[in-house]
Formats: sequence, C-alpha cells, structure tokens
Amino acid sequence: MTTSLDGTVALITGASSGIGEATARSLAAQGAKVALAARRIERLERLAVEIGGEGRTALAIESDITDQEQAIAAVDRTVEELGRLDIVVNNAGQMLLGPIEDAPTEEWDRMIDLNLKGLINTTHAALPHLLAATEDSERGCADVVNISSVAGRIARAGSGVYNLTKYGVGAFSESFRQEFASRKVRSTIIEPGAVDTELSDHIRDGVREKTRERFADIHMLEADDIADAIVYAVTRPWHVSLNEILIRPTEQQG
Ligand SMILES: NC(=O)c1ccc[n+]([C@@H]2O[C@H](COP(=O)([O-])OP(=O)(O)OC[C@H]3O[C@@H](n4cnc5c(N)ncnc54)[C@H](OP(=O)(O)O)[C@@H]3O)[C@@H](O)[C@H]2O)c1
Repeated sequence: MTTSLDGTVALITGASSGIGEATARSLAAQGAKVALAARRIERLERLAVEIGGEGRTALAIESDITDQEQAIAAVDRTVEELGRLDIVVNNAGQMLLGPIEDAPTEEWDRMIDLNLKGLINTTHAALPHLLAATEDSERGCADVVNISSVAGRIARAGSGVYNLTKYGVGAFSESFRQEFASRKVRSTIIEPGAVDTELSDHIRDGVREKTRERFADIHMLEADDIADAIVYAVTRPWHVSLNEILIRPTEQQG
C-alpha cells in the first residue's frame, strides 16, 4: 500500500543537479511541497519554476550546508515558508577520489565538511520539526533519507576518504534509526552504484579519467532510478521502514 505525500514538506539538499534534482521532481509529483537547497541558486530557481508549472510547490534556498549556520537557516526557511517538515533527503555530497599518498588534503576537508558535517548538521536542525510531523501528519511518521553509496559498503584503493565519509553515513544512519525508532522517525540509507550525474566532474585530472574508464562499458543508472527508490521508501505506510537500499547498474561488478 502506498501512502500519499499530499500535505507533506520535503527538504532536499543538493537539489541543483543529479540525484537531488530528480528526487525533488519525483517527491513533488507525489504531492510533497519541496524545499530545494544547494549553492547554485539559479539552477534551483529554474527547477522551482518548472515544479511550480506542474501545479506543485517548490522553494529555492541558496545554502552552503558545510556552514552549520546555513544548514540551520535552510531548515528554518523551509518550515517558515512551507509550514512544516516531514522528509529530509540528505543528498548533497562530493566524491573527490584519488590515492591517499600525495592527496591534496583540502579535498578531504571538503568531503568531510559536506558528506558528514553537512548531513549531521542538517539532520540535527531538522529533528524537532520531524518529531512534530510524526504527531500531526496523516502519515504518522517522518523520514530521514541519507544518500550513501556502494562506497559506504565496499572500500577500494583510491577512494579512502570518500569511503570514510560514506561508511560514516551508514553508521550514523543506523545509530539514528535505533534512537528514533520508537518515535517514528524512519531512517533510510540509499547506496547507489554508478549514476550518470555531474559527480565525477569534480575529481582531479588524471584520477577522473581512470574513474570514468571503470564504467565506460556499462549502462549506468540514471538519477531517476535513485529517485524512484526514494519515493518508494517514503511512501510506505508508517509501520514499514526501509532501512537500507543498495542499487547497482545491472552490469556493475564491484
Ligand atoms: N553519481 C553517482 O554515481 C553516485 C553514486 C553513489 C552515491 N552518490 C551520492 O549521491 C549524492 C548526489 O550526487 P550526484 O551524483 O547527484 O552528483 P551531483 O550532480 O554532483 O550533485 C551533488 C549536489 O551536491 C550539491 N552540493 C555540493 N556542495 C554543496 C554544499 N557545500 N552545500 C550544499 N550543496 C552542495 C551540489 O549543488 P551545488 O554545487 O549547487 O551546491 C549538487 O546539487 C552524493 O551524496 C553522492 O556521493 C552518487
């Protein structure tokens, strides 16, 4: 049985491209009002206009969630302007791959600041509103969906700090699940394999080409494939909690 998202509000971080953008469209199509957070405000505004044109509600919020105050402000604006908060999709992330030896350590800082600190700070700020939503929504639950990766389950040479952050997302999500299970805030970890997005554009020269070679001959996932899984998880009835979803392209081996 599917539960409608009519009357709910979802905040999606990293909604300006890729998985976050697709998820925002899909959640809006299911009836949620969506708050779109990222740094590239013009892309968010374009998406908000598009979603508005479909008769849905979207709010564009310029936010660099590596800054805790901006993460808090994104949550606050969502609640002030859309009235509540039922679903948080912690999607914003960076994958700056490369060997540990001679790595530019500022890349490590960027991943830790976004993939870990951005996610935990957004979740922390959202919590009072999510707990309130469990009390006064027809769904009777709230959702935190954290985008991890296959890299959060299998470590590889050349992705040490990305692995560190995504394993961390998995650990935090499970601890969160246990802490809030009795209060009906569900925790879902999504673990995609290779998805065709802008993610690898930011990998440094030399490493980027090798990363792309790994997946050159396979049919990668599309952002919509991940959005479908997220919609499935958050439209289950309140007593069903999909805790972990691993999704690979069929042809991806590792
Ligand atoms: N693509 C894959 O193969 C794959 C596989 C497994 C997991 N994932 C995970 O999926 C998530 C989404 O990635 P994607 O593939 O959709 O890549 P993407 O298109 O590059 O999306 C990343 C998003 O994060 C946002 N972002 C980056 N820095 C930010 C900051 N400081 N504050 C707020 N937002 C920020 C970006 O927006 P702005 O630049 O506008 O801020 C963008 O919207 C990531 O967590 C990634 O690790 C992706």
